[in-house]
Amino acid sequence: TRVVVLISGSGSNLQALIDGQQRGQLPIDIVAVISNRPAVRGLLRAEHAGIPAEVLDHTRYDSREAFDTALQECIDHYRPELVVLAGFMRILTPTFTRHYEGRMLNIHPSLLPKYQGLHTHQRALDAGESEHGVTVHFVTAELDGGPPAVQARVPVLPGDDAESLAARVQSQEHVIYPLAVKWFAEGRLRMESGRALLNNEP
Ligand code: GRF
Repeated sequence: TRVVVLISGSGSNLQALIDGQQRGQLPIDIVAVISNRPAVRGLLRAEHAGIPAEVLDHTRYDSREAFDTALQECIDHYRPELVVLAGFMRILTPTFTRHYEGRMLNIHPSLLPKYQGLHTHQRALDAGESEHGVTVHFVTAELDGGPPAVQARVPVLPGDDAESLAARVQSQEHVIYPLAVKWFAEGRLRMESGRALLNNEP
């Protein structure tokens, strides 16, 4: 399965996918990594793994539409079967999300539908939650609103701050994102009629 990964930063989720591919645990070929920010650590991770890395700097485009059009061209050049948003911090236009519907995944650090948007860890702490977590979901036009595919839960512990909670959530991100990508690549996870369907047969 040909995969293009979009990033904006450190790329630890990208690294989890690279590691899975290199260990032969993921039936994927990461054919490109595209970042909307120059000089981020994720680009180095791609380079070290020998994966073509591209920068598409959103600040060089006049509008969201112009950026998304260029991004779509850049992605489609690599003919991916799956597009993986891994810490890609851009709101996407409906035209763009529709183009990839059913073949684009995102990871969001909350138990969706709770805490869509930013600062999820602090908001979960402020609300006094006893548990928190992370969701892999198919991307639709609704920001953080597409159908959830895989979730992992973590406890909120006494003395937690946003940083310690984020670290606990991130370690689960690196487990469930490769898993969701694996299931998609195996044809076991798909989006149908606006829902994520998981076929548990081997
Ligand atoms: C993750 O916490 C992800 O849930 C959020 O952005 C972060 C990306 O981290 N959307 P990384 O770039 O994969 O290290």
